[in-house]
Amino acid sequence: MTTADYAFTDHTYDVVVVGAGGAGLRATFGLAEQGLNTACISKVFPTRSHTVAAQGGISAALGNMGEDDWRFHFYDTIKGSDWLGDQDAIEFMCKEAPAAILELEHYGLPFSRTEDGKIYQRPFGGMTTHYGKGIAQRTCAAADRTGHAMLHTLYQQSLKHEARFFIEYFAVDLIMEDGACRGVVALDMSTGQLHRFRAHTVILATGGYGRAYFSCTSAHTCTGDGGGMALRAGLPLQDMEFVQFHPTGIYGAGCLITEGSRGEGGYLTNSAGERFMERYAPNAKDLASRDVVSRSMTIEIREGRGVGAQKDHIHLHLEHLGAAVIHERLPGIAETARIFSGVDVTREPIPVLPTVHYNMGGIPCNVHGEVVTLRNGNPDSVVPGLMAVGEAACVSVHGANRLGSNSLLDLVVFGRAAAHHCGRTVKPGTSHKLLPKDAGDLAVSRLDRFRNAKGTRRTSEIRLDMQRVMQNHAAVFRTGESLDEGVHKLDAVFTTFSDVQVADRSLIWNTDLIETLELDNLLAQALVTMSSAANRQESRGAHAREDFKDRDDVNWLKHTLAWADASGRVCIDYRPVHLNSLTSDVEAIPPKARTY
Ligand code: FUM
Repeated sequence: MTTADYAFTDHTYDVVVVGAGGAGLRATFGLAEQGLNTACISKVFPTRSHTVAAQGGISAALGNMGEDDWRFHFYDTIKGSDWLGDQDAIEFMCKEAPAAILELEHYGLPFSRTEDGKIYQRPFGGMTTHYGKGIAQRTCAAADRTGHAMLHTLYQQSLKHEARFFIEYFAVDLIMEDGACRGVVALDMSTGQLHRFRAHTVILATGGYGRAYFSCTSAHTCTGDGGGMALRAGLPLQDMEFVQFHPTGIYGAGCLITEGSRGEGGYLTNSAGERFMERYAPNAKDLASRDVVSRSMTIEIREGRGVGAQKDHIHLHLEHLGAAVIHERLPGIAETARIFSGVDVTREPIPVLPTVHYNMGGIPCNVHGEVVTLRNGNPDSVVPGLMAVGEAACVSVHGANRLGSNSLLDLVVFGRAAAHHCGRTVKPGTSHKLLPKDAGDLAVSRLDRFRNAKGTRRTSEIRLDMQRVMQNHAAVFRTGESLDEGVHKLDAVFTTFSDVQVADRSLIWNTDLIETLELDNLLAQALVTMSSAANRQESRGAHAREDFKDRDDVNWLKHTLAWADASGRVCIDYRPVHLNSLTSDVEAIPPKARTY
């Protein structure tokens, strides 16, 4: 098939943003307010993007509820990252945080308030004062619906600045020419019409790929579409072995119970009723970083101290907080617990289990949001015309483990930075080069191939196979043996994908086709995740190898880069970690042992 067989509607914009979650919307309105002709393409209505599910809050050293300093935040984030985070980028994020939050407040984000009217802030895991000595109250919250409040605020701002939205459009592929991005091809899912967007810059804000796993807190839409497009464009993904398990997903359902519930005083117990986190993290206890809490829970279950008939989960207690506190600060999770586990949190504990929540890895970027790759020995070689922000990107501010509430911050700080960078580099209305004659052909042929796939295996079957392999082999604890087995099993799943069957041949609301395109994205990222994990022979942050129990800074203080070709073959190289600060405002923190 060629473009001629599928008529395109053509568009030209200064900048096109793909994705309308927190990062995509922050970039979109930042671009539009600078006078750039901006389009935002989203496969869901913007306020239904997965950011809507973010509960506990957004970090910033405002000091509204006790002493704080962005340098403490800088230290905590580096320590939380297990020293894999790039310290220049972490400085940028933590220093920008207070201004970014006040800006959101001025745009109308309805934060919860203290008695004296300031933004309410709660404690979160790994957030301390005085470099680990005290507990910081740093996470700014709108009850337990902070992401919801943020999305509405940012969407309103985008409309105010007249950004153009293409809603329920599925981005099929990037248009690349000589290593530069020239635009993107998208399918209007409601009409079946294909659209070709030409832009000086395309910003990928497509979120994570949590749905590569069987049990995750991520929405069904979290299929890593940007990462899939980047891999097909011959670009690497970075640090994909680092997948975060949130300690408190509801047992059986996977829905998130915010870390804010432990910030408000909730705690975990085992079958003996013991507050076991006191043994694993004597200082931070239930507010140790997520990797530490998830591992501790897993050990309790493995050693026979889990709760329930199968002894396969843990209890989270909120009863002691009292109904008034719960209804004021945690109303959303009270409702979620009632619906998904039948629990009244004012009277009984919630059954919880570590659940896949976040991808630290993603498309490698610099602090401006420009996508970088390893080219001719240069690990920071910019890919012209392509940027990435949010969970799709790896800046890398989270390194091997993200601290809770640093994600919403990452979205707004780097969404804003990307918009400002475009403001400096793209002149509104500058004319565009003609697109190559075959622009979009590759995207169309891929779409057409799946649309007419006449194999024997349903997309849902192949997806389930992939999810089970990821769940079992790229888990909280890993060994070389189980990871190698995971690589082989995933290769086999990938092979079956050539036998996929798409039953619906139409183009209008063809969810069978869309889910197959999404599975293609997920599978490529599952492959690089498993291979990167098998390759990294150390334990760091969320990557806990039982056969290499220690962090190994001599051999592994480096970012993984992983490419996957069309045949599913994964190839690995490395980038150095930035162990330097950005300015003289703060000193870099040399690697040291991590205790909580
Ligand atoms: O637990 C939570 O509310 C999640 C926050 C986050 O992942 O940053």
